[in-house]
Amino acid sequence: MKFFIDTANLDQIREAQDLGVLDGVTTNPSLMAKEGITGRNNILKHYVDICNIVDGDVSAEVIATDFEGMVKEGEELAELHPQIVVKVPMIKEGVKAIKYFTDHGIRTNCTLVFSAGQALLAAKAGATYVSPFIGRLDDISTDGLELIADIRLIYDNYGFETQILAASVRHTMHVINCAKIGADVMTGPLSSIEGLLKHPLTDSGLKQFLEDYKKGN
Ligand code: G3P
Repeated sequence: MKFFIDTANLDQIREAQDLGVLDGVTTNPSLMAKEGITGRNNILKHYVDICNIVDGDVSAEVIATDFEGMVKEGEELAELHPQIVVKVPMIKEGVKAIKYFTDHGIRTNCTLVFSAGQALLAAKAGATYVSPFIGRLDDISTDGLELIADIRLIYDNYGFETQILAASVRHTMHVINCAKIGADVMTGPLSSIEGLLKHPLTDSGLKQFLEDYKKGN
């Protein structure tokens, strides 16, 4: 299972990279704005900065919503760095753009996916990743994990190679349950990764070991 961090914050990206378990980064326009990164040039530069910190794939989102606009922006983003994956929204023009990028060797992440039908379309168009937003489904009393399980079943039925990138992950139980279902990737905040570390028995056990070591030395 790949671990991506879902942020545009360079310090948090560095921290996750230093842990040694980071496989990539996802961002979106809201996450960029949260870090105060505005204006096309600053945003493009920020993507390159992120690529220079991590070893894996970095999703960079198109803003255009028409086919020509998405293709133009996507090609520009893909040119920035070999690690860039072009993030395209699940709309009709987006499906066309994903197919175009697939045919032209540009990797894609189909974002804002909330149903199995949308995920099937993304795979048919050849998306590298599909991003079902599980936290946002949970927010409206719909089981986000059930969607991951449905997509896993559909993709396995036909051998689709599109990777399921569980997005809008909010906490450690999302990560663990996505791993149980077989999501290929999860993207979440640093806390969802670091939270996996925590167990009170680890802390008390270590404390005891260190105390016992001191007694004998
Ligand atoms: O990866 C998608 C993500 O950025 C959305 O997360 O927490 O805003 O639903 P959230």
